Amino acid sequence: MKFTAPAGPSPIDQGKVVGHPHDRIDGRAKVSGTAPYAYERNQLAPNAAYGVIVGSTIATGRINRIDTSRAQAAPGVLGVVTYKNAGKLGKARTHAARMLAGPNVEHYDQSVALVVAETFEQARDAAKLVQVDYTPAQGRYDLAAEKPNAKMPKAGQFGPPDSKTGDFEGAFARAAVTVDGTFSTPDHSHMMLEPHATIAAWHGDQLLLWTSNQMIAWAVHDTSEILGIRPEKIHVSSPFIGGGFGGKLWIRSDAILAALGARLVKRPVKVALLRSQVPNNTSHRPATIQRVRIGAGTDGKIQSIAHESWSGNLNSFREERAGSQTKLLYAGANRLITHRMAELDLPEGNAMRAPGEAVGHLSLEVVMDELAEKLQIDPVQLRVLNDVQYDPEKGPERPFSSRKLVECMEEGAKRFGWSKRNPKPGQVRDGDWMIGMGVASALRNNPTKESEARVRLDKHGKITVESDMTDIGTGSYTILAQTAAEMMGVPLHHVTVKLAESHYPVSCGSGGQFGGNSSASSVYAACVLLRAALAQKAGWQVEETEFVDGKMSAGGKSLSLAEAAGPKGVTAQDKIEFGDSQKKWAQASFGAHFVEVGVHRITGETRVRRVLGVFTAGRILNPKTARSQLLGAMAQGIGGALCEELVVDKRHGYFVNHDLAEYHVPVHADIPHTEVVILEELDDKSSPLKAKGVGELGICGIGAAVGNAIYNATGIRLRDYPFTPDKLLEHLPPV
Ligand code: MOS
Repeated sequence: MKFTAPAGPSPIDQGKVVGHPHDRIDGRAKVSGTAPYAYERNQLAPNAAYGVIVGSTIATGRINRIDTSRAQAAPGVLGVVTYKNAGKLGKARTHAARMLAGPNVEHYDQSVALVVAETFEQARDAAKLVQVDYTPAQGRYDLAAEKPNAKMPKAGQFGPPDSKTGDFEGAFARAAVTVDGTFSTPDHSHMMLEPHATIAAWHGDQLLLWTSNQMIAWAVHDTSEILGIRPEKIHVSSPFIGGGFGGKLWIRSDAILAALGARLVKRPVKVALLRSQVPNNTSHRPATIQRVRIGAGTDGKIQSIAHESWSGNLNSFREERAGSQTKLLYAGANRLITHRMAELDLPEGNAMRAPGEAVGHLSLEVVMDELAEKLQIDPVQLRVLNDVQYDPEKGPERPFSSRKLVECMEEGAKRFGWSKRNPKPGQVRDGDWMIGMGVASALRNNPTKESEARVRLDKHGKITVESDMTDIGTGSYTILAQTAAEMMGVPLHHVTVKLAESHYPVSCGSGGQFGGNSSASSVYAACVLLRAALAQKAGWQVEETEFVDGKMSAGGKSLSLAEAAGPKGVTAQDKIEFGDSQKKWAQASFGAHFVEVGVHRITGETRVRRVLGVFTAGRILNPKTARSQLLGAMAQGIGGALCEELVVDKRHGYFVNHDLAEYHVPVHADIPHTEVVILEELDDKSSPLKAKGVGELGICGIGAAVGNAIYNATGIRLRDYPFTPDKLLEHLPPV
């Protein structure tokens, strides 16, 4: 199905199953420990040996010699993979560095060996006996120091890195009121609960990978490039995933080394990264330096806006697009967005939880707060004043597909009691706590991506959906079942959803908040064909045929779906393609975050006391799973504001805090009751389902709302994330 014009009425509009807060259909399996995660699929490979990865202890340089003899001789050891015996390996274009180092080392903890043994403990012990002699080289590990050498990156999948509209510098120089803020955000680690893990087995020249991965087809493609084997010889399976956040968009060393280990010892091999290997062996969100300048008239209307961003990466791999939201969020005739990238020898920086927007809001939305204060306009009002219903770079000929930022702001302000906020900072106290409120907008671009699915009706009237789509904890199984149930007029429990096998039709996968909308649209498209096939089989006109209560009916005639299917059943398969819909319409989902914090006047500790997010994201396919995603993303955004930070050792080039004891993510005690409100909206220009992406919206903006609330509480304006107590203590009055 080609999506070329706005969606008309469809069976989805009935809202009998879609739009209801169904529990996740995989929920019971997950909470009862019966959902098979990659490392637990022992039944498929009962005699698997264990592999443990040895990582480089230098960040850049050369391996002179690897001595594996002591490891080889250790109890239980079956073999050791290094670049010496691994054979020729390619590099996937989607990786900044190779999955196995040697003789060159590209980053700290890059894999240099895999030790395979009968038990995990034997492999772990023997891994310590691998001796590597290195010649380290001089590396670049400090973004601020390398910023002057940063260059303009190539145009990538998100278009050119720079955009200029009108004359920013001239308009900014002439503006009645200006603000100018420079910010830094640190490197972040995905730190999903389930580390990267794979069991690999060879059946002749066929490679089977039971792994934890967000994008099955990419995994097949990249494994094929690296190992130099044809894609049809590779089978990837990833039905349950314990979180990804972008860290599992691409195949990683656990899978590649498990495959090499299994080939070496002629047995299946299982490899899980140790928690301490996740930050340096895999990818992370790169640090940024950002400067935002806004010029406005005394009426509060923005006339000029600039967002400049610098990030670094290994081998100039990819830049963090921190200006993404600023291209679209506010009106203003004179605009400048730039992205620059510096060469660093830190591990690969790559996509994580709303790449670009998540950190871009952290500067833009704080500068908006400063502008509101300078103008003496309420921060909610300032955002309403500068709303724009079309792409402000392209003009009215590219309208938004739908945009309800103003509605989110106004509804949120009402519900949160925003009118009670004292705009003068440092005025409200609760014992030793200084209390403040902050607000921020949320915009997350709404990409859509080609996706394919197959739907089968069997002789019992039951439906099976097959697609290589993944469920990374988000609810894909459930919303795809709801979509098929609605389309075919059957109860939800008559639908079975099978996902994440590479022999199923190729989906969009899970990423960039395109997964739910795009993959459900493919199930819709396949169901449209299935309905047509069933009508034709019955000799009826499909336009006159209704699918309700497990039956199809037309012109007074009726057939049960079991009868309609016949003994062999009927299958349909289709791909959704989005044509130029992204060109014609600016597409994003929107929200408004409201936060109340308390800052302790003696310790400088910030506690978030109240949180409200109001969002719109087109049709909400399942309010429960959508709310859960927003909640989780908001918690992650609070983490970004207050605690998440990979600390760089700038001498030796690695992330020091590489476990969950030292890389702080918020825990339940850090997150107060969080209110999530989703306003009604249908977006007929986004997809046939009139839905938009919701998965990464919640992390956009909330961290800035925390910062703005800290300012309102204390009068202290922080610009270096995260806002830890030490940074506040410097500015708090002495006790
Ligand atoms: Mo998302 S960072 O594209 O998994």
